[in-house]
Amino acid sequence: MILILDFGSQYTQLIARRVREAHVYCEIHPYNLAIEKIRAMHPRGIILSGGPASLYEADAPDIAPEVLRVGCPVLGICYGMYVIAQHLGAHSAGARAREYGAATLVIDQPDVMFEGIAAREQPVWMSHGDRVEAIPPALEAIAHSANSPYAAVRTRDGLLRGIQFHPEVAHTPCGVQVLGNFVLKVCGEKGDWTPAAFVETKLAEIRGRVGGDGRVLMGLSGGVDSSVAAALIHRAIGDRLKCVFVDTGLLRAGERERMETVFAGRLGIALSVVDASDLFLARLAEVLDPEQKRRIIGHTFIEVFEKEAQAIGGAKFLGQGTLYPDVIESVSFKGPSAVIKSHHNVGGLPERMRLELVEPLRELFKDEARAVGRELGLGADVVDREPFPGPGLAVRIVGEVTHDRVELLRRADLIVMEEIAAAGLGARLWQAFAVLLPLKTVGVMGDGRTYESVIAIRAVESSDGMTADWARIDPALLARLSSRITNEARGVNRVVYDITSKPPATIEWE
Ligand code: XMP
Repeated sequence: MILILDFGSQYTQLIARRVREAHVYCEIHPYNLAIEKIRAMHPRGIILSGGPASLYEADAPDIAPEVLRVGCPVLGICYGMYVIAQHLGAHSAGARAREYGAATLVIDQPDVMFEGIAAREQPVWMSHGDRVEAIPPALEAIAHSANSPYAAVRTRDGLLRGIQFHPEVAHTPCGVQVLGNFVLKVCGEKGDWTPAAFVETKLAEIRGRVGGDGRVLMGLSGGVDSSVAAALIHRAIGDRLKCVFVDTGLLRAGERERMETVFAGRLGIALSVVDASDLFLARLAEVLDPEQKRRIIGHTFIEVFEKEAQAIGGAKFLGQGTLYPDVIESVSFKGPSAVIKSHHNVGGLPERMRLELVEPLRELFKDEARAVGRELGLGADVVDREPFPGPGLAVRIVGEVTHDRVELLRRADLIVMEEIAAAGLGARLWQAFAVLLPLKTVGVMGDGRTYESVIAIRAVESSDGMTADWARIDPALLARLSSRITNEARGVNRVVYDITSKPPATIEWE
């Protein structure tokens, strides 16, 4: 494996993704991970990430000197390069020289990291506040840019390297090759970490963990992560996996039927479907506050799930579709980020039910989980599904959630799903859905005045849901949506399109 030590760069996860695109397994850990732990991992290479700190700060983050003497190659990126330079004795390490954006890298010396890169001059992306001004004798420069005399450096034995630019971002086209060369040629990784290899390893791991007669309980949400995790666990232990699907009454049209068709039908995974819609609706009566809705739904979900689990009985393990971004212990120099929305999950459940967790996807990014799903034979209707929040339609009904309002939203939302699919936009959009607003406006239908509800349409493009842009969809499609919703969803006389990005808005309205 390749160990990535994180100095808090916004790009650290991208480094990991690029390394994995070279089919090499890697993990991200905080920069101050104890040296004994680093040694115990037997990394084939170490990458020191960039970071927001300045070398001039009194308590600038640093590694223990032994990290550079573990014996494997080390690559420092941006801040990581200054750290290496410092350790090798660059006393007047840097000068404040802000450089942000595109730059031209000029390769001055052949180096294995630049193999396969044809032109000597390469566009790269810079983003730094300091730069290394004078390098210690142990380092030699191998590339420069107009603003950075030492855009790439290495020790003479080639074990330590540093680059000023960011190879992990899309704006550095040669970056994939540079990182690939580092992990494959410098570190000697084989590049055999593929979805098929991952599945093989995990099957053995799950079988080892659960044993010959252990049983795993799992709640399915209909989403990609839990579906892929369930398919993997099922392949490992067959019917000793027990899946529960809770119908909260807050699902999109056809979701429950789809789950039954895919799991019970196509995959042959037995599914206990619990219809708890009345309970959820009763608990949500007269609740207006979004956070309170989320809490009620979270608690009710756990209650229903627990009851069903007891009915099934005998499970010692709980399966979950946890992904890597949820488990990376990220370095934050500004303290934990504020809770914007309390996401719904089954937190607290394992301890309460004394269940041990089985989380076979916890090393994977979302696109890798999708690739594993494809490897397991799950169709596009499972692996390419758009995200859907745990609290479901409740957070798309601004104001009170009642039976009639859920029905109205579901009808309008189905039209959005149908039209987006018919237009072939599914792959381009991160999400597209309808929102029911808590207000009525005046309209005219036939010869009569109407006073009815407003539906908002939200369609966004995004790569990870952290930021998003509203989709510039064809006005003819918007016209079709408006006309169908006002005609077919009785009780709606106005349709609006949400033209706000995230930030400042969030994707969901609540
Ligand atoms: P926001 O609304 O915060 O959403 O911009 C970002 C992404 O997260 C999804 N989302 C949720 N997913 N439980 C989930 O599992 C939740 O409570 C939840 N709230 C939002 C949202 O659909 C979007 O993709």
